[in-house]
Amino acid sequence: MPRTIPLIIIAAIAILLAAGGVAWTILSSQPDGPRSTKTDGPQIGGPFDLETTGGERVSEADLKGKPFAIFFGFTHCPDVCPTTLNEMAGWIDALGGKADDMRFAFVTVDPARDDAETMTYYVEAFSDRIIPLTGTEAEIDSMANTYKIYKEKVPLDGGEDYTMNHTAAVYLMDAQGEFVDVISFKDEQDQALRKLRALVDG
Ligand code: NI
Repeated sequence: MPRTIPLIIIAAIAILLAAGGVAWTILSSQPDGPRSTKTDGPQIGGPFDLETTGGERVSEADLKGKPFAIFFGFTHCPDVCPTTLNEMAGWIDALGGKADDMRFAFVTVDPARDDAETMTYYVEAFSDRIIPLTGTEAEIDSMANTYKIYKEKVPLDGGEDYTMNHTAAVYLMDAQGEFVDVISFKDEQDQALRKLRALVDG
């Protein structure tokens, strides 16, 4: 995807999160208002049911129980996805034993081209610790909606070929599957590791 698009997406996410934060501040400042912080903000995350290596099914319940980092993209991505997966593999190495206390997943936004075999082959080139996930168009649409992921098919000039614009941030979810933080595309490794260690340490 073009380098200019992620900034727009990052800005959109920032606005979304800021709006949620403002809404939460207003709600939580009311003595009789709802007490739960997480359910009053923008809901990111929730149930899903997707396919991974060997046709196995993976649901939200399979990722929960440990905090997890989840990223959405596609194997034909020229830039953001390979960069992010390479960085994610670097985080896993840098976290050492702490990486065992969380999970990592990569979900395709292009299931028409990314079947389980394609995803497995692609993701394993970066790290065998990252769980590749795909599904039907409907399953992926549902999960993108649940995780508030922007994705858009963009035809390339003069043919059937296309690329996908998509949210470039890595979402950090706690062991209950609740949204905690994002690692944005521009975050340096030390920033990313701080966020990941905070996630694991709870
Ligand atoms: Ni990408």
